[in-house]
Amino acid sequence: MSNKRASRRLPVPHFNTVVERRYSRRSILRGSIGAALTGLFAGLPLPLRGELGAGLNAELRAGQTNTRSRELPAFAAIPTSDADEVRVPPGYVARPFLPWGTPICGDYPEYRPDAGNSGAQQECQMGSHHDGMHFFPCGEGEERNRHGLLCVNHEYVDLHKLHPHGATIAGGRRTVPDEVRKELAAHGVAIVEIRATAHGHWEVVRGRYNRRITGSTPMVLTGPVRGSSLVHTRYSPDGTRTRGTLSNCAHGATPWNTYLTCEENWSGCFVNRGELPREHARYGVRTRQTYNHWETLSDIDEYARFDATARGARAVDDYRNEPNTQGWVVEIDPFDPASTPKKRTALGRFAHEGAVLAPARDGAPVVLYSGDDSRNEYIYKFVSASPYRSNGDNRDLLEQGTLYVAVFQEDGQGEWRALDCRCSRFQAAAAAAGVTFENQADVLVNTRLAADVLGATPMDRPEWGAVHPHSGEVYFSLTNNRTRGTPEYPVDAANPRANNRYGHIIRWRERDGDAAALRFSWEVFVLAGPGEVDPATTNPDESGRILPGRNGPPLGPDNRFGCPDGLWIDGNGLLWIQTDLDSEMQLSERERLGNNQMLAANPATGTIRRFLVGPRGQEITGITCTPDHRTFFINVQHPGEGGETHPELVSHWPDGHGARPRSATVIVTREDGGVIGT
Ligand code: FEO
Ligand code: CA
Ligand code: CA
Ligand code: CA
Repeated sequence: MSNKRASRRLPVPHFNTVVERRYSRRSILRGSIGAALTGLFAGLPLPLRGELGAGLNAELRAGQTNTRSRELPAFAAIPTSDADEVRVPPGYVARPFLPWGTPICGDYPEYRPDAGNSGAQQECQMGSHHDGMHFFPCGEGEERNRHGLLCVNHEYVDLHKLHPHGATIAGGRRTVPDEVRKELAAHGVAIVEIRATAHGHWEVVRGRYNRRITGSTPMVLTGPVRGSSLVHTRYSPDGTRTRGTLSNCAHGATPWNTYLTCEENWSGCFVNRGELPREHARYGVRTRQTYNHWETLSDIDEYARFDATARGARAVDDYRNEPNTQGWVVEIDPFDPASTPKKRTALGRFAHEGAVLAPARDGAPVVLYSGDDSRNEYIYKFVSASPYRSNGDNRDLLEQGTLYVAVFQEDGQGEWRALDCRCSRFQAAAAAAGVTFENQADVLVNTRLAADVLGATPMDRPEWGAVHPHSGEVYFSLTNNRTRGTPEYPVDAANPRANNRYGHIIRWRERDGDAAALRFSWEVFVLAGPGEVDPATTNPDESGRILPGRNGPPLGPDNRFGCPDGLWIDGNGLLWIQTDLDSEMQLSERERLGNNQMLAANPATGTIRRFLVGPRGQEITGITCTPDHRTFFINVQHPGEGGETHPELVSHWPDGHGARPRSATVIVTREDGGVIGT
């Protein structure tokens, strides 16, 4: 969704503007820094395991020395498309699965094509607007490729699609409580046990794991913010609990088999008509009314909580602190259907796009990356206080640790700075900025402000990240930013295009291959766009590396794309890129790029090929696979967007025949049963 305005911030000049601007970027690209990058990024081994890995490893090595014997990804790129269908390369098959409204639990209420299901029924069905997703295999051996739990995020609701005739609103107020119940039920997470019935065909197992977690499900707060006066509410006077998870965008999966769902554009669900504290103002809590007017059902406590105006004598008398219980990463154990989801406050509070774990190493801390998807916001890294133990109890590893924010220097180096009120450097930075934090809970509730204080680098809307499973190299999507190049946010090396309409992907390596390191080296991997190379970045960097759209060949018919969003690197080292074109993009620009799509890239060679194009009005987001990489699950979100009151005029996907469009998962397989992308 497109609540991406820059929020009010402290006027702290960031590191790049203060220190680094004295260098000419052009001279950096031409000079010795380019050579330094060569040493850092080129020729690094990417050890791949197993039979398949052996071939791909050879290919990646070959690509790094520009002696390509066999080009990967190994499928024929497909053209852009404006058709209302999912297209994949010859030899591949795509089938819709689990669309919004599919019954998955309770008494399994059937989906009504007129959108006439009740709120109670929605609580037993797939939610709307599928986004991040993970497949947790079940069983042993080959069964793990045919049976598992699919966890799917449901990001938001489109009232015109969710209800038969949109929401009932009279005089600015909601009048039908069950509509609001249904809207909250369509958010959150679906946990669905699924099993393959035949190659490429899967079904819902009506088993005990199936569960809906919604915008109303009781949850606990864990970590430094638990019990803080900043989260005392009428519902939880001791600040330990809250209701619901909202705006569930991308996700994470831990090696101890839990699912992480991330709260992104939650701030528009809240209104504060009084004086906004910094923990509301910096996040864009609304001042007149919420997106969906839930707070206007003020006689019902569960909906009154969306009004964060201070009305009582004390915080426990009202919901002034309710917005502080959103903006977190929530950990869910899909294998324990009775478990209470845990909000992991040590990971910070912002518009979390996703939660991307570096490969876990026995005895080392868990490292997790997360982007704050708003214009000119930051990229963060969490390092757990306790080490991961492959045979130990890791259940509460995300409860305590250190949160860092990224500083991208102009010379291709970078630094992680700790948001830690016990750290003297943080204290000095806060004092210099004239900002006071009471304690670590205050730092975490005000994560954005703490990162401002530290001089973090404002980025062009950080969306998904991905970590290469073998090299540890980290990739992040920076989807677009029309405010880049303004006096407040000048271009810098990491965000090199003014009016960045098409976005780019950045990548870095942590020092000494240690994910927990405090220093890293970075470069831009690809500048997206309809085909031209940006003139500001065509200088050879003398590295000999081919970076498409940067110093290498421009993107062309096989791979032009805009606004990278979803990112994932599969077990074989292929980088999958999913797109979500800026809804403010002009029609002519959109037409050149076609419907939103998914591409595969070879991180070593820079080769990028278009693999899938979705139906009309949607974005492609969410990707996971079975352990054998022979079944991919991909999400299609908001087909029909752009026809706000009549989405069915834009798209009828996936049901066709004039039906209203529905978000859904797509199962992709090869006709010959082979490994996807190779
Ligand atoms: Fe929910 Fe930033 O995408
Ligand atoms: Ca979107
Ligand atoms: Ca996204
Ligand atoms: Ca997006």
